[in-house]
Amino acid sequence: MNQMQPAGQTLSPVRPRAETVVRAILAGIGSYLPRTCVSNDDLAKRVDTSDEWIRERTGIRQRYIAEADETCAMMATEAARAALADAGVAGAEVDAILLATATPDQAFPATAVRVQHAIGAKGFAFDLSAACSGFIYAMSMANALILSGQARCVLVIGSEVYSRIMNWQDRGTCVLFGDGAGAVLLQAGAGSGAATDQGVLSTHIHSDGAFGDMLYVDGAVGRPDKPGYLVMNGKEVFRHAVTKLSDTVLEALAANGLTYADIDWLVPHQANRRIIDAIGRKLELTAEKVVVTVDKHANTSAASIPLALATAYGDGRIKRGQLVLMEALGGGLTWGSALVRL
Ligand code: ACO
Repeated sequence: MNQMQPAGQTLSPVRPRAETVVRAILAGIGSYLPRTCVSNDDLAKRVDTSDEWIRERTGIRQRYIAEADETCAMMATEAARAALADAGVAGAEVDAILLATATPDQAFPATAVRVQHAIGAKGFAFDLSAACSGFIYAMSMANALILSGQARCVLVIGSEVYSRIMNWQDRGTCVLFGDGAGAVLLQAGAGSGAATDQGVLSTHIHSDGAFGDMLYVDGAVGRPDKPGYLVMNGKEVFRHAVTKLSDTVLEALAANGLTYADIDWLVPHQANRRIIDAIGRKLELTAEKVVVTVDKHANTSAASIPLALATAYGDGRIKRGQLVLMEALGGGLTWGSALVRL
């Protein structure tokens, strides 16, 4: 922009300002795992299954199961506090909380407002339901809130207590899931618009309700006859997961003009080792670049990606400045990706 110059003064050349865009910067990562760890052998004492069957079919060795006081809100709050501590940010600075969960403590108020109160945050807070894709959906919404200027400091949380919606008589599902929570703090920052920027570079989300009966909970509030247990067509979910998640990885790379070689880490939804490996084979991914925690956490639905992220960040594998691609598929069907440079 040309500025008015006082008469007689030499005009300095007009320098174009470097273009800047708003970016949602990932400032902190945190997680919470329940106190009780249940191995496959522990589970085989009360379910007709075996360590061998579970490991061979899924890669799962153990899972964490919440005790009575480890509610969705409690675990979410602990994960949020850990993310805030990692970022060095006080709860009062948070102006939005998005909590992805399929297992809230109550129909309402949203579990997110319990977290808001516990950490002393202001602004607004709400829950988001997209099953195992919940964290990716919440990242997408949080990014949009920051880019639109509606929020500047957003907690994105995935917190799940799937042990409470398990039919413990159904060995085909109850061995697959675990409880836990993970959180990230996103803060408004600036970038150049290039893929070298720090922060969220892209998100892509999809759903197709035609597959609503492939993976669902057979109950609801106001249905005392149906307490609500998870029901799944495992083979069909497996098939859709491999196809749709491979496509979503390619979609994210294409949208950013990148190839898989540019990605430092793939952090997939941790449903099943065989799904992760099948996607790896299909896309010819380097196994060393894929974070796998399903052996330790089992499938924690919306919490699985932030838990995996927190694990690999905590043990020093994922470092600041690296490019991380996250992807998930879940009930709905829902699926999507988030590409973030830490
Ligand atoms: N322990 C021992 N035996 C079992 C168990 C168990 N826990 N569960 C099932 N079986 C038996 C079955 O009864 C069956 O026995 P039969 O041949 O005598 O009838 C046999 O094992 C094979 O059962 P299938 O259901 O055909 O087993 P499959 O090989 O399909 O594996 C599995 C099941 C692991 C669920 C697989 O379909 C799968 O991984 N699907 C993906 C589902 C998934 O990961 N969902 C997570 C939610 S969605 C998401 O997060 C992406």
